[in-house]
Amino acid sequence: MSKKNFEKVTQAQAAPADEAFDPWEQGRPIPLFVFAVVFALGTWGVLTYFSEHKSQEKSAAVRTEQKAGETSHMQAALAAGQAPDSINPAAKASGLQNASPETLAIVGVGKGQAWSCASCHGEAGQGNLSTPRLAGLPAEYIVKQLHDFSSGLRTNESMLVVAKGLSSTEIEDVARYYEQIGLPSTVSPGMGGELERGRILAQQGDWKSNVPACFSCHGMSGEGVAPGFPALAGQQPDYIFAQLAAWQAGERKNSPQSLMDGIAKQMSVQDMRSVSDYLATLPLHPKNEAERAAVLRSDSGKSQSLPSGENPSKS
Ligand code: HEC
Ligand code: HEC
Repeated sequence: MSKKNFEKVTQAQAAPADEAFDPWEQGRPIPLFVFAVVFALGTWGVLTYFSEHKSQEKSAAVRTEQKAGETSHMQAALAAGQAPDSINPAAKASGLQNASPETLAIVGVGKGQAWSCASCHGEAGQGNLSTPRLAGLPAEYIVKQLHDFSSGLRTNESMLVVAKGLSSTEIEDVARYYEQIGLPSTVSPGMGGELERGRILAQQGDWKSNVPACFSCHGMSGEGVAPGFPALAGQQPDYIFAQLAAWQAGERKNSPQSLMDGIAKQMSVQDMRSVSDYLATLPLHPKNEAERAAVLRSDSGKSQSLPSGENPSKS
């Protein structure tokens, strides 16, 4: 640094209002640097603005396309009376809106210590693997199960906490809520069973091993019979299998007159897989006689039917 410059600097420090001070002086690189930074920031800003604008336009277009795709997918599915898994189950369910805010809070947010029903049973009560589908089960059946969990007659740690936390009125409200939900079946076979064997067990039973036809109690196509017989059609196959195994092992003990205990004890593990898988192929509620006939038609000719006059409930 030259002596002259040195003097200038010291002067500037001593007297800030120095008139000789010139911010644009060549010897001071800072203003140029500031210029460069401002210019760079400006350019960057303009470029980002344009590229963001473009990508926003693009993603908006993709979203509209996706929505249109979903809607047409859903319309096609509804027209075919099917419920592809790719569609959000809540979007397929009717009856979800018929509930008090208190019930909706229990279902969707949870109460006290307990998680929401939806967090385990799905947003439309569709169930998942060994957590059962609740949508469409008879309200009386749901009420009974909740009281059984709460009293310990039916054992499950999660459901013990949940059921104990609900008042009788809340149990009834929540049961009516789930009963009202109309949701097509969302399940498909996956237990490694044999469908034809499952169909025979469900429709005719196996008299050699004392297994009565499931449909003799659970409805002509497994749709359930209120108040006491839950639907099997549309129920999660993992859950059906798990319950049969639990009865066989003596772990589920709340079935009236031990009906299901006796049946499950007669079944082989492979038969349990087969019937669970077959039930997962059925529509929830055959809407008319033609649909019901279509469910039952699969038995045409292939298997021997019961000798006429034989009554399942007698054996
Ligand atoms: C932490 C997970 C969890 C939560 C939360 C939960 N459940 Fe469950 N629920 C289960 C499981 C797992 C089973 C199956 C129990 C078994 O295997 O016996 C079950 C079984 C049931 C059953 C018996 C269904 C049948 O077909 O027999 C009913 C009814 C039920 N739950 C209702 C509810 C309601 C109502 C709520 C909310 C108030 C709720 N659950 C919250 C996990 C849960
Ligand atoms: C004699 C009548 C009867 C027959 C036949 C029968 N069930 Fe059941 N089943 C019941 C009753 C009653 C219940 C309800 C048990 C309860 O309230 O805990 C039930 C419940 C069930 C459940 C529990 C569903 C749920 O949501 O928790 C499954 C699974 C089941 N049965 C499967 C079968 C299968 C598979 C067959 C055929 C192999 C069959 N049942 C035959 C009377 C019967």
